Amino acid sequence: MAGKNKTEISSQALSRLINAAAKAREGAVAPYSKFRVGAALLTKGGEIITGANVESASYGLTCCAERVALFNALTSGRRNFIAVAVVARAEGGPMPCGACRQLLAEYASEAKVYVADSRRSKAVKQFSVRELLPGAFLDFRPA
Ligand code: THU
Repeated sequence: MAGKNKTEISSQALSRLINAAAKAREGAVAPYSKFRVGAALLTKGGEIITGANVESASYGLTCCAERVALFNALTSGRRNFIAVAVVARAEGGPMPCGACRQLLAEYASEAKVYVADSRRSKAVKQFSVRELLPGAFLDFRPA
């Protein structure tokens, strides 16, 4: 496992979260890339909120699984995320893109990020949001 974090979630909670991301992946709408991604957020209170990537013919409007899950969670009033799992058929697991890292830094900075290859869901890599996006832009107010 890469990265270090203060609090660890139990291995049971982690497998639940990875399974939820894998299940959410089935809802991916990826007709262009065919790269299906599922994401699942875990709140401090134990709730799991999921999302999957949705692609657009204009490509640039595509939204990643992580952001769909995060927007879903935020707009339904959820906060205090302690973990996020991302699953896709990718060697070593899918690494969140820069845009998703920014949103995670803003809204889930304490969450541990777990990535897994859908073919090997027991091989999970772990990161902190800070190590994925050091020096994140968080404050636009003038000094
Ligand atoms: N994608 C995600 O959903 N999450 C990631 O972490 C990486 C990329 C999606 C966006 C697009 O639909 C497809 O994967 C190919 O880039």
